Amino acid sequence: MLVSTKSEQTQTSSTVAEPISGAPSASSEHVVNQSVAANARQNSNPVSADTPIKMTAGNVDLFYGPKQALKKVNAAFPEKTITALIGPSGCGKSTFLRCLNRMNDLIEGCKITGDVQLDGENIYARGVDVVQLRQRVGMVFQKPNPFPMSIWDNIAYGPRLRGIRQKNALNEIVEDSLQNAALWNEVKDDLKKSALGLSGGQQQRLCIARALATKPEVVLMDEPCSALDPISTLKIEELMRELRSQYTIVIVTHNMQQAARCSDQTAFFLLGELVEMDSSSKMFTDPSDKRTEDYITGRFG
Ligand SMILES: Nc1ncnc2c1ncn2[C@@H]1O[C@H](COP(=O)(O)OP(=O)(O)OP(=O)(O)O)[C@@H](O)[C@H]1O
Ligand SMILES: [Mg+2]
Repeated sequence: MLVSTKSEQTQTSSTVAEPISGAPSASSEHVVNQSVAANARQNSNPVSADTPIKMTAGNVDLFYGPKQALKKVNAAFPEKTITALIGPSGCGKSTFLRCLNRMNDLIEGCKITGDVQLDGENIYARGVDVVQLRQRVGMVFQKPNPFPMSIWDNIAYGPRLRGIRQKNALNEIVEDSLQNAALWNEVKDDLKKSALGLSGGQQQRLCIARALATKPEVVLMDEPCSALDPISTLKIEELMRELRSQYTIVIVTHNMQQAARCSDQTAFFLLGELVEMDSSSKMFTDPSDKRTEDYITGRFG
């Protein structure tokens, strides 16, 4: 049994899969939720073997003080695809997501080994500009966190930090980003109003627009819909599917339907290990590992 990182063809030499000893063999008696499976069949695009790989994680171990939260995680993220990270609470999904743009650097006592590559370069190498890295690999958090300023200022914040001063250029970025985040029509007459006055779903789309304004290549989303009603959730999902043509997206979700509806590939985490990673249609219809099957069929977690 291998920790499969999508498929052998998409692995790079730095992401060679590690065997897990004692892993149970696949069972033929899957009781997979039929609607989840149907969504996965319908929506996930099996990633073609020649899609370039945007990011990889190779043998990533992570410790919070003495506690190991990630164990030899190997994964590959092909360009312009959506990867869903699933698994029970506390299994390390957010921790792993944060490794991809060095957000864990901000946590005291956190130690990481292994390597994470963006376009073939180790993001943990000495001399890497972390601010620039986080512009290339943007993040949207579980709880919308607009800055206490106007809608316009929220979006212009990152570009201004990057030195863009011209009002016209900033106006253009603000409009483009809000258009891309499917929020423009709702807020175009209120750009000077406080972002805190928006609804939760609008605030989350604002945060996505803010992440897009710095022109990232990869967008990380940690349960971006968990605080939203079903309509706002559907809007964000629709948005993700549109963004896929331009960005590589990694999303943490507890919602199996969402993972099946939106993602091209899915990674299942358990107790800090990446148990299995494959196309979402395979993961939700015929997972290779018994533990994945137990999780997606609701037997635990
Ligand atoms: N800042 C931290 N300091 C110490 N331990 C942490 C920290 N953040 C997470 N952990 C621990 O690391 C493990 C993985 O946590 P993580 O938040 O990555 O899980 P998760 O899969 O995202 O869970 P959830 O689905 O509940 O969000 C947990 O045991 C958690 O207690
Ligand atoms: Mg989490």
